[in-house]
Amino acid sequence: MESYFLIMFAFLLVGVFALPEQFEKPFDTNNVGKPAAPAKTYIVDLDLAPSERWKNLIEGYDLTYLKQGLNQIIDAVVPSPELTNVIQRILGDLDKFIPEPYADEMRGLSDSSGIPLGQIVLINLIYDFTAYASNSSSKACTSIVTRNKLGQIIQGRNLDYELSPSVLRNITIQVDFQQNGKTAYMGTTYVGYIGLITGYRPGAFSISGDERDSGNIWFNILAALEGSHFTFFTERRILQESSDYVSALNQVTNTPTIAPVYFILGGLKGNEGAIIVKNSKTTEAVIRLGENFTHPWFIVETNYDPWNKPPKSDDRRDAAIASLVKIGEKSMNRTELYKVLSTPPVFNDQTSYTTIMSAAQSYYHTMVRYDAPALK
Ligand SMILES: *[C@@H]1O[C@H](CO)[C@@H](O)[C@H](O)[C@H]1NC(C)=O
Ligand SMILES: *[C@@H]1O[C@H](CO)[C@@H](O)[C@H](O)[C@H]1NC(C)=O
Ligand SMILES: *[C@@H]1O[C@H](CO)[C@@H](O)[C@H](O)[C@H]1NC(C)=O
Ligand SMILES: *[C@@H]1O[C@H](CO)[C@@H](O)[C@H](O)[C@H]1NC(C)=O
Repeated sequence: MESYFLIMFAFLLVGVFALPEQFEKPFDTNNVGKPAAPAKTYIVDLDLAPSERWKNLIEGYDLTYLKQGLNQIIDAVVPSPELTNVIQRILGDLDKFIPEPYADEMRGLSDSSGIPLGQIVLINLIYDFTAYASNSSSKACTSIVTRNKLGQIIQGRNLDYELSPSVLRNITIQVDFQQNGKTAYMGTTYVGYIGLITGYRPGAFSISGDERDSGNIWFNILAALEGSHFTFFTERRILQESSDYVSALNQVTNTPTIAPVYFILGGLKGNEGAIIVKNSKTTEAVIRLGENFTHPWFIVETNYDPWNKPPKSDDRRDAAIASLVKIGEKSMNRTELYKVLSTPPVFNDQTSYTTIMSAAQSYYHTMVRYDAPALK
């Protein structure tokens, strides 16, 4: 029974996500040309049953907009409406292959929003089945770990995603995950997405994920069948389970993920920073803060392997390096890092948010980038 579902699942995903990408004009183009604004923070109480955790947030939300937005994103990856119906029916059953507490959290989200469970699951799995070598024009993401003159670590990231950035801006939120009434960890996400692409644990570490397109969709499918972990559920699990930089680095390195990804990790001080280059299932390399003699005080990751030159058509890495070098270690602080992430082409038409975070300073702040240029 279970293997039957898994095989159906695999074929559907290949059929669906491997179709040529088609992008429609966003239904909402209002979220550009305004000033950037802080993302709203919601509390998710981890002491509640998983199915209850997202209820408060959903009940206070504009669901008409959310449903329209999610439909648009799904339509862009799954172009045929018939296929969407089939996949949603199957995925509605498939939540049993998704580990707890995530399956129950998604069930609860679906119950309180009225959005079909299959659609919630689909949205939450998009990354794992779209991150592989392809000809996408996405400029997806920049992450930076830097040190200030006191030796404290500050991390920053831009989340760039080509699917409906104006919709994504509207649904960008910060989540304060609490245990015993205290912050256990925080993250930035989109309403309905329960994994974390950006997050921190105060006094411990910060982490972000950047898309890595390598390999082949079949590697991802095989990794899924062999029990590898959904990429951004993994990131959230690390925030939940690791209580310091060293254990987070071990957990990131040793957890097999379904999709290739770059995880960027920052600690508290000194050389506590690393880019972990992951393949589907294995870790390919770890590049540490301090290893580069020209600029030992920062590391930058966009969407290319650190040992390769970025393509001329999308060199956000060298642009970020030039800005950081210009500021210098002595002047580096959170304001300056935000400026680096607000300078084109690092800042671009696909940027939905910028987060600046420092576990050393117990600081976490996300700005929604309504000030980005309109999508071309
Ligand atoms: C990307 O596009 C180029 C030129 O159109 C083509 O030759 C190449 O096979 C494509 N690569 C993939 C992975 O689709
Ligand atoms: C999102 O869009 C809806 C509908 O236009 C609007 O009511 C809401 O205020 C927007 N939210 C944000 C955070 O921009
Ligand atoms: C250090 O960074 C510079 C500039 O980005 C780069 O050209 C150089 O190859 C790097 N050196 C090492 C040892 O990685
Ligand atoms: C960072 O440094 C600049 C220049 O000295 C200063 O204007 C800004 O207030 C500082 N920001 C923080 C968060 O300390």
